[in-house]
Amino acid sequence: MLVTKQPVLRRFWYAVMPESDLADGPRPFRLLGEDIVLWRDGEGRYAALADRCCHRTAKLSKGFYCEGKLACGYHGWIYDSDGVVVRIPQRPVAGRERAIGQKVKAFRAEARYGYVWVALADPLHDVPDLPEAADPGFRLIHEFYEVWKTAGLRIMENSFDNAHFSFVHRDSFGIQENPDAGKVDIEQRSWGFLMTTAMPVKNPEIQKVILGMAETHTTRNMRSSWFMPFTRSLEITYPNGRVHIIVTATAPIDDETSQVVQFVIRNDTEADAPAAQVIAFDRQVTAEDKEILESTGFDVPLSAYAAEEADMPSDRPGVEMRRRLAKLLREHGEREVRLQSAPTSSTAD
Ligand code: FES
Ligand SMILES: [Fe+2]
Repeated sequence: MLVTKQPVLRRFWYAVMPESDLADGPRPFRLLGEDIVLWRDGEGRYAALADRCCHRTAKLSKGFYCEGKLACGYHGWIYDSDGVVVRIPQRPVAGRERAIGQKVKAFRAEARYGYVWVALADPLHDVPDLPEAADPGFRLIHEFYEVWKTAGLRIMENSFDNAHFSFVHRDSFGIQENPDAGKVDIEQRSWGFLMTTAMPVKNPEIQKVILGMAETHTTRNMRSSWFMPFTRSLEITYPNGRVHIIVTATAPIDDETSQVVQFVIRNDTEADAPAAQVIAFDRQVTAEDKEILESTGFDVPLSAYAAEEADMPSDRPGVEMRRRLAKLLREHGEREVRLQSAPTSSTAD
């Protein structure tokens, strides 16, 4: 599937940028191949507009904040959060705000969990709901925001794939001598699915500290939510009651590249587990994933995947993702577009 060629993928929310990055001025982002400018207006609302001024096509992300609005950096035309030109400095029109009539395309933007989320078209679902993020018994730790040269679907499949622990994570928590992928239970949801499973894992030195557990091995009891298409929340409960929820939200920049946001939500305190160590361990683990995922093919096949990729039983969550995404395309009248597709098979935007 080439994500930029499937219009229905525009109908989901994606976490595109930390809110703090927009404190001092607008910033560019490419989402599903579309260049947008992100900014925050004077009332603290976030906005996403096409990154091209309607005057002489300068990128609005080269502009600056002016009186709570966005000024183009070239000739200073002022835009509001709906993308409407409300003032042209060289041609003032007293008392006729927004009557100038020029406009650029505006997209939906909202802030959740410290990030700006954007939907390029009418969203099919809400931004994923993470109740623990608002629970005073939990704290939220931002882990990283970076570009991975891989498809969002590869990252999602990997996140629900117990079989990779023993190999990709053999230097961190995986038990190489025990490649058994365990059992998984999948419950369908309108927004994706919920998977429950449990896996034995190593408990390395750094984890002994941040989990408060001296054992050399432990068990991860996992409840993973897959939010179509490319966001997941993995709730890990350890035998001592420590909960570590990993939220990985990936925004497709283009067909080959994903912007990856990761934060965790935990039911402990800084005194129990310093955030720097929590981040350090998860960074080791995600670096292991990134290394292998960036070697995979980005044009992930959905409906006819079996002709191109071999299978084993533990691949079931990923197979289920492909089945659900293929169904989503069908329900919206789209054919899956692949690298090899004839141009006529592509669905118009
Ligand atoms: S190009 Fe933006 S104001 Fe002229
Ligand atoms: Fe992994």
